[in-house]
Amino acid sequence: KNEGKNYTIAFSQCTGNDSWRETMLEEMKRELSFYPNVKFIYRDAEGSNQVQISQIRELLKNDIDLLIVSPNEAAPVTPIVDSVFQMKIPVIVTDRKTSSGLYNAYVGADNLTIGKLAGQYISNVLNGKGQIGVITGLKGTSASIERKKGLMMGLDSAGKTQVGLELHSDWSRATAYALAKKQIEDLQKQDLIFAFNDQMAFGAIQALRENGNDKKKIIGIDALPGANNGLEEIANGALYASMLYPTGGTEAIRTAIAILEKTPYKRENILGTLVINKENANLMMLQSNKIQEQQKDIDKRQEFIVKQNQIYNNQKTTLQVVMTS
Ligand code: FRU
Repeated sequence: KNEGKNYTIAFSQCTGNDSWRETMLEEMKRELSFYPNVKFIYRDAEGSNQVQISQIRELLKNDIDLLIVSPNEAAPVTPIVDSVFQMKIPVIVTDRKTSSGLYNAYVGADNLTIGKLAGQYISNVLNGKGQIGVITGLKGTSASIERKKGLMMGLDSAGKTQVGLELHSDWSRATAYALAKKQIEDLQKQDLIFAFNDQMAFGAIQALRENGNDKKKIIGIDALPGANNGLEEIANGALYASMLYPTGGTEAIRTAIAILEKTPYKRENILGTLVINKENANLMMLQSNKIQEQQKDIDKRQEFIVKQNQIYNNQKTTLQVVMTS
């Protein structure tokens, strides 16, 4: 076993500027605080395949012991991630995937299952009839491809609900809003709108409201706790439902540590999902608030331990100075 050795973990994030990914990073940092022997290098590719590729190249110059990567679009980012794997540097893929399957571990929910669950749920809500508007994520991302595939499977298995309109967005609220604005008449005709994340759902909600409609059923994915996020918007009735999509930050770091310390780990770490709607949103909020309080408590204890260690080390050096003088 390699317990306690010094390590460098690099994390290449496809985009950092949204609350879901901020939550992921927070989770990672909290878990990392238990491992003072681990150096963590973080890079945000800001949604660009090219930037992500060059950032991974640059990370390799830092003598990293393990790479965690959430690939932007699968195909363009695959060769560089594969080459890291082939260099025998362990690779953990999280949330989105590359196209090759060359990784030591995957951490994230199953996007095909999520799409399917959403399709079945939507079909139930519409009694197996009607048509829906779909707002997809960035086209080459595995999460969007798998969610779409799963959605069609779910709709087919549950009834005759059809896709009446598809808007090709890029995961961002701004793009979804602009697309919804442009096709607002067609969007109005749909019985329900399903966006592949909550942020894009919020963009559609805004566009519909500006057009005088706030009654349309809108469904998203993520169901993140916190102000202005999915859970809250479901509880206050703006969002009809959302599929829980855990960020897996904690699990990614735990898996990384297991790989580095040569203790057993799983190759596929599939995080659970469920439909959140008005019936369980409040319960989820209560639970996540409680967890947050407990985490604050853990943070405080961690700070205390660090301080105690500093005091101890200072006293030790003072003592040494006294003894040698
Ligand atoms: C955040 C995000 C999430 C979505 C995931 C898909 O950047 O867009 O909202 O569920 O990425 O990879």
